[in-house]
Amino acid sequence: MTKPPVIAIDGPSGSGKGTIASELASKLDFNYLDSGAIYRTLGIAVQKANVDFMNHAQIVEIYNKSDISFESVKPHNVILNGKDVSMLIRSQMGSDVASKLGQIPEIRDILLEGQRAYRREPGLVADGRDMGTTVFPDASLKIFLTASVKERAKRRYKQLITKGIDATLPDLLQDLEERDKRDTERTVSPLKPAEDAVTLDSTDLTIDEVVNQILKLFLK
Ligand code: DC
Repeated sequence: MTKPPVIAIDGPSGSGKGTIASELASKLDFNYLDSGAIYRTLGIAVQKANVDFMNHAQIVEIYNKSDISFESVKPHNVILNGKDVSMLIRSQMGSDVASKLGQIPEIRDILLEGQRAYRREPGLVADGRDMGTTVFPDASLKIFLTASVKERAKRRYKQLITKGIDATLPDLLQDLEERDKRDTERTVSPLKPAEDAVTLDSTDLTIDEVVNQILKLFLK
């Protein structure tokens, strides 16, 4: 039986992959998986439970007891145990705890099955760090989306300010550089393009331009 098609979009923080993946999912009427939101939400649950990030067994226990879901319509609000945590997970703390969790092999393993469950008819657009390399190695199309670190910091700044979340550009730049380092240097599923991925640099492209390029590649 053929599985539903997957468009995997990976890339560093602020490359625009979330916005682009969600837009593509709407255009194609596909399901959408924001894998970073799962890491962020679990991170918040761990933080709330006051559990040390070194205590992997207890983090697994928290994951098993947590109910994490996404609303199917945009902006895909994220619900943790019945509470909307969409704003909280986008905070600096949410970014930090997610990146830390991403470095723990056991956590990456237990999240695999849950992520793959989003692959349903008529198809899926999934964004993250390891969608094309580990979670959906048989994806129909793999995109590695990049942009300069300065441009990514500017985009994140705009995004946070629009949402009413406090931020400064130098802090965001430093945070992105630290997260890039953690995400690319970790031993398990590091952030890197899959061998068969198409790399797109979005520094000087609009969202529509990137979406259209990906659509062309998918539909050809
Ligand atoms: O995509 P994002 O910025 O929301 O992701 C937040 C953090 O979660 C990121 O710094 C690393 C981690 N993450 C991961 O390790 N693997 C994924 N597939 C998605 C996110």
